[in-house]
Amino acid sequence: MKVLGIESSCDETAVAVVDDAGRVWADQIHSQIATHADYGGVVPELASRAHIQHIAPLVARALDEAGLAPEELDGVAAASGPGLVGALLVGLSFAKGLAMAAGVPFIGVHHMEGHLMSPFLNLGPGEKTEIDYPFMALLVSGGHTQLMNVKAFGDYELVGQTLDDAVGEAFDKGAKMLGLGYPGGPAVAKLAEGGNGSAVAFPRALRDKKRLDFSFSGLKTALRTYLLEAGEEAHKRDIAASYQEAIVDALVTKSLLACGKTGSRRLVVAGGVGANRRLREELARRGGEAGIDAYFPPLKYCTDNGAMVALAGLKRLQRGERSGWELNARPTWPLSEMGREGHG
Ligand code: KG4
Ligand code: ZN
Repeated sequence: MKVLGIESSCDETAVAVVDDAGRVWADQIHSQIATHADYGGVVPELASRAHIQHIAPLVARALDEAGLAPEELDGVAAASGPGLVGALLVGLSFAKGLAMAAGVPFIGVHHMEGHLMSPFLNLGPGEKTEIDYPFMALLVSGGHTQLMNVKAFGDYELVGQTLDDAVGEAFDKGAKMLGLGYPGGPAVAKLAEGGNGSAVAFPRALRDKKRLDFSFSGLKTALRTYLLEAGEEAHKRDIAASYQEAIVDALVTKSLLACGKTGSRRLVVAGGVGANRRLREELARRGGEAGIDAYFPPLKYCTDNGAMVALAGLKRLQRGERSGWELNARPTWPLSEMGREGHG
């Protein structure tokens, strides 16, 4: 079974073809970093226009790379939410048109369910194609910071989330304050390399062991205040490392707490921030000490990509699900509603 997936929820136009073993047969992506860099963040209208410009050539290239005609696909999937509405509509509409013309099933996919599938892409020989349910998921992206108890595919219970900024935003805003470019996560991580992560004692919010929520706004303020006070003398490398350490500590602590509370021995990390090396190191280390196995997507599939959408769509199609041609984009769409409401 082979499914083509389209991702256009934010600033990446991505198209991929994936089979039921998670093997990626085609993988095409156009990143809009250059389009938005001058603005320090994503400009929604420019994102929609760039998606329109690139979607058709990317789909053509993906089909070519996979060596398939549209009629040979077993389905077409597109991220239908959450995300920027104008951006989502481009991929969604194109996917419907492609599926309709080829006479194959169409399915709308939840972007975060796509991220959840990313650890199962392009596995090596002998690796398990799926980890056993239930497991705890740490979803960390530009718009989400959530701990999700995944009872089965499609059955998600939210157990903790950020009360203010998403962790990706904390990285992006921190990067701006440090005078770094967009996207901020990789920039902060790069500056932090070789820095001393305990140089500045940045606050860890919500230390209460009963709580599984996150908060990053106090940390952001602490960084702003520290930079103002330190002025020209600031050792930016150490500050970036300490800022990153505060974020990583909060994510790891609450993730392990969530595993403890639900009795989960497996933790899956997904979303753009999952590419962070320190987060991966600390989760593997502290998780290992606590007897919890941490699973990460291949680095390439941490940030937005078409393959994760294709695999989530494939799994839904395998269950006999289909979306109607009337399916609309859903800019706000809690993942925990999936089980109750189906796929949109
Ligand atoms: O999942 P994603 O590609 O898009 C959304 O769905 O939001 O996540 C993007 C976020 C951005 O905030 C970016 O700064 C962050 O992921 N990010 C990172 C790293 N790579 C990407 N944050 C920390 N360290 C990284 N290496
Ligand atoms: Zn994403």
